[in-house]
Amino acid sequence: MNDKAPSGAPVRVPRYSGSARINHWIMAIAFVILLLSGLSLFHPALFFLSGIFGGGAMVRWLHPWAGVVFALGFLMLFIRFLPANLPELTDFKWLAKIRYVVSGRDEFLPEVGKYNAGQKLVFWSQAALVPIMVVSGFALWTPGLDFLQSTFGIKATMDHRRLAAVVHAAAAVTTIVIWIVHVYAAIWVRGTLSAMIRGSVTGGWGWRHHRRWLKREVADGHVKSG
Ligand code: HEM
Repeated sequence: MNDKAPSGAPVRVPRYSGSARINHWIMAIAFVILLLSGLSLFHPALFFLSGIFGGGAMVRWLHPWAGVVFALGFLMLFIRFLPANLPELTDFKWLAKIRYVVSGRDEFLPEVGKYNAGQKLVFWSQAALVPIMVVSGFALWTPGLDFLQSTFGIKATMDHRRLAAVVHAAAAVTTIVIWIVHVYAAIWVRGTLSAMIRGSVTGGWGWRHHRRWLKREVADGHVKSG
């Protein structure tokens, strides 16, 4: 495929609709708010971070509501991106060759569809962790507890709350590590950020990293090659 349009500019391939990007960025902003406000509640040494939001009382209000926005945003993203994240045989072949991913020798990797196995792992691990964060977060939140009690008759004891605090913190640390990997990969693989910012990538990016997806897009007439 020619990577240049007749104008000489690289061919751009649509990757995300406007609504998918808005969905992703609302969720990502909510995540950063959760990260900073959550860290300020986590340890007294990090309490200074609450200053970003106007103090401790504000953080205690903001954190759970940002959690609600994040969880709903993730649910919508999950439904939207689920079909492209279903596991397939190629994912195992790709993972078996992970050393070529790290060394940037893409020519030794199998052709992948819209997402590679690493991206699918990010998707599925967040899909497992978000419900854990939501349930344990509800058990730490007074309005959440009232809701659980009035709706489901669940009465949380002090032991439940202690357990919820440990589970919430452990899941949060894991989520943050996965998020750092996600953002690092988005920056490290040049041209990826524009997928989520502009909604499109260059043909060269598609050819190098998601060749099977690119071929499908071309076959479906979504790309005008130069
Ligand atoms: C705030 C910083 C973030 C940045 C810079 C970022 C960047 C990106 C980029 C560039 C893509 C497109 C990748 C591609 O099409 O190949 C993407 C996709 C995606 N992002 Fe983010 N993201 C951020 C936060 C998050 C958070 C907080 C989550 C969820 C917890 C998330 C979940 C996803 C998912 C599920 C995809 C689709 C790829 C897949 O299914 O693995 N992102 N992100």
